[in-house]
Amino acid sequence: MKIVSSTIELNAALERPTLADLTGLVPTMGSLHEGHLSLIRLARSECSRVVVSIFVNPTQFSETRDLDAYPRQLERDAELAADAGAGVVFAPNAEDMYPDGFETWVEPSETAKGLEGKMRPGHFRGVATVCLKLFNLVAPHRAYFGWKDAQQTAVVGRMISDLNVQVTLRLGETVREPDGLALSSRNARLSADERDRAKVLPQALRAGLAAHAAHQNAKEAALAVLADDPQLEVEYVEEMTAHGHRLLCAALHIGTTRLIDNMRLEEST
Ligand code: PAF
Repeated sequence: MKIVSSTIELNAALERPTLADLTGLVPTMGSLHEGHLSLIRLARSECSRVVVSIFVNPTQFSETRDLDAYPRQLERDAELAADAGAGVVFAPNAEDMYPDGFETWVEPSETAKGLEGKMRPGHFRGVATVCLKLFNLVAPHRAYFGWKDAQQTAVVGRMISDLNVQVTLRLGETVREPDGLALSSRNARLSADERDRAKVLPQALRAGLAAHAAHQNAKEAALAVLADDPQLEVEYVEEMTAHGHRLLCAALHIGTTRLIDNMRLEEST
């Protein structure tokens, strides 16, 4: 028998699974693309069992229009997930996740302020709450998230640490099209012309990185590139820190589609 009095000692005293026993969770909202599949493959390379959750989480959408427009294609997604190494696809319905009387929320604070948190009030409350529920339901040892949603990874990382959730956060690199556009389920909503114009987003971030490397203002450089297309509605270009990395992040609307992206500033040095 041991008496332990710190969280570090507690972790050391508890039996931990061997590598061969690890469960990895890849939380998604479906409409899987190469970005998700690369996370599933990463999870499979590290864990003996991979669970992919597919749930279009209503509590992280402030606009019903956006929620309704979110593409849903469970059968295709399940096949893609299985091919990439998933052993289980968990696709609950909203009534199961949020039954009548549901009233307990995870309310992230500082990390959820600004950028996405400012533009989408309540978004990270929904994300943090559903992630904690998924962690409790699946009990994964590792959870896999993409760098593309950098602020989301910061919010989830903070929650894991603040609430002593027994899961290790693992991050996968953003997967990009040949012209630099970050893969996103929302790209499918772009018309051919919008899709072509969307490449300005990674171009602007790269211009920001180059400016930063030249000791100039990254945000201004990125905004100058975005200004070339007057039809774009730029929501923000901001710097943030996530997991010890300084990032340049941007969000914009092309037509009715909202796109976000980010790049690590220190990669330019
Ligand atoms: O990034 C997403 O797809 C979602 O925000 C997540 C993490 C699956 C929570 O619903």
